[in-house]
Amino acid sequence: MNNTFGTHITVTLFGESHGPELGCVVDGLRPGLRVDEDEIARRLAQRRPAGPLSTARVEPDPFRVVSGVWKGRTTGTPLCILIPNLESKSEDYVNLSNVPRPGHADYTGFVKYRGFADPRGGGHFSGRLTAALVAAGAIFLTALRGRGVTLGTHIARCAGVADRPFETLPDDLKALECAAFPVLDPRRGEAMQASILEAAQAGDSVGGVLETAVTGLPAGLGAPWFDTVEGLLSHALFSIPAVKGVEFGDGFALAERRGSQANDPFRMEAGGVVTETNHNGGVNGGITNGMPLIFRTVIKPTPSIAIAQRTVDLSTNTNTEITVRGRHDPCIVPRARAIQDAVTAFVLLDLLEASY
Ligand SMILES: Cc1cc2nc3c(=O)[nH]c(=O)nc-3n(C[C@H](O)[C@H](O)[C@H](O)COP(=O)(O)O)c2cc1C
Repeated sequence: MNNTFGTHITVTLFGESHGPELGCVVDGLRPGLRVDEDEIARRLAQRRPAGPLSTARVEPDPFRVVSGVWKGRTTGTPLCILIPNLESKSEDYVNLSNVPRPGHADYTGFVKYRGFADPRGGGHFSGRLTAALVAAGAIFLTALRGRGVTLGTHIARCAGVADRPFETLPDDLKALECAAFPVLDPRRGEAMQASILEAAQAGDSVGGVLETAVTGLPAGLGAPWFDTVEGLLSHALFSIPAVKGVEFGDGFALAERRGSQANDPFRMEAGGVVTETNHNGGVNGGITNGMPLIFRTVIKPTPSIAIAQRTVDLSTNTNTEITVRGRHDPCIVPRARAIQDAVTAFVLLDLLEASY
């Protein structure tokens, strides 16, 4: 029952989807880091639902940083961010208390918390809590930028449509910074959006793949065995609700290659060591090699769909059906980009704090 993650920097998440407020406590931040509230608001806007591609529950997220900051800088003491829930409609969830939605956490939450979990809007399991992660992430991203590290995430695939791959990283990452729909090829983005809408109109949902690139990381971050960069990042990325897979570099495609096609040959360039290719995604032996860190997550289709599905009634121990009503994202992928950026920044800043 642990809601805290991190080593030098820790984040504790709290709240429920329909409780009065949710938030996070960030501990271990150095004193003097800039806390840019406009940047927090900008990142929260990237996570906010927008139009028919997402839920009709649009929370304005008037966050408050209630501790750990003085005159726009971290003090070094625990920093707490509070975000109110202003748009919850709990009546949509009344009949879900005993009838778990397939694919959601209603059943496992019921078992783990012995029937005491708050079922409204998915309670503590809701994607709503990721607002707090994104708010904290804005602080981490600002700190990373100050250390020359830049990162960004695009929708590599969604609803059967693929974006173009990363090409010129600095330009691609810059373009993603202000992209409302995070793709590298806007035409393919339009096709994705049309395909998401088609699924939504059928009462269904779709998933996709988010790809992240990080530049400016020094070689030497991470450790072998239990604190590999891949391991720590995966641990944190799997905290994002609906993430069902993570792969680094060429990932699962490496299974089909020969060593000669999977290795990244080394070369000296401008006095430093680089690799000619990056099939390993910038990590060897769990430690960064100085090349861009590249990884992808799989985001599954939203569980709550308006199509009848088989389930059980836990109050009568009988089989039944459910057709989920209420407001849901037909696709989580576009909104999850801001969360993936935030979680990545958290892990990398924590790793940088550990480096010597
Ligand atoms: C930003 C975001 C929004 C989400 N919106 C919904 C939603 O509207 N309806 C829903 O059923 N699940 C939604 N989810 C996914 C569920 O929270 C998630 O599937 C559930 O907690 C079960 O966890 P798992 O999919 O990781 O097993 C959302 C997730 C995120 C990250």
